[in-house]
Amino acid sequence: MATTIFFATSTGKTSDIADQLKELLPDAGLQDVDEMSSARELEVPGSLICCIPTWNTGADEARSGTAWDQCIEEIPSMNFAGKTIAIVGLGDSASYGDYFCDAMEELYTAFSKAGANIIGKVPTDGYTFNESKSVLNGMFCGLPIDEDNESDLSHERLSNWLNLIKPQL
Ligand SMILES: Cc1cc2nc3c(=O)[nH]c(=O)nc-3n(C[C@H](O)[C@H](O)[C@H](O)COP(=O)(O)O)c2cc1C
Repeated sequence: MATTIFFATSTGKTSDIADQLKELLPDAGLQDVDEMSSARELEVPGSLICCIPTWNTGADEARSGTAWDQCIEEIPSMNFAGKTIAIVGLGDSASYGDYFCDAMEELYTAFSKAGANIIGKVPTDGYTFNESKSVLNGMFCGLPIDEDNESDLSHERLSNWLNLIKPQL
């Protein structure tokens, strides 16, 4: 099934990570969520890798601060049954260690409500942070990437994670 990498960004880091994913998965499509005419474009591919930064620290909702926030409102009323979703979150574990990559959880919850099969959960080992809404039952609900403090680890994290989930895409 066709895979598309969807991303939205404020300062470019999530876009860079989406580009790295595209290099690792050359057959995948690449789509900036900001440039979509409607959230319905998310329904086109069979599997989606969704890359989302966290901003709006401490807010109860709309944690991405990007075009994802509008999609997150719409996704629960859409139908993603039979679709496979994997999530990549960008955050800063040093400056925002009480809210590390919180926005991943909003995407996870929205797609869960829409019936999607969500893959690519990640153990918390190897990350230094205090709290994250995105830790569910002891695992991150997607792959956290910290370009602010651990950019030297990003490529290895992406490629190891992708190798694990590739058979399910
Ligand atoms: C004002 C501000 C608020 C932020 N809030 C959070 C946060 O709550 N949680 C987190 O993990 N990272 C937070 N970050 C870090 C960003 O998520 C991180 O730099 C990310 O890589 C930005 O991605 P982008 O360049 O694609 O927008 C914040 C950064 C700034 C400057």
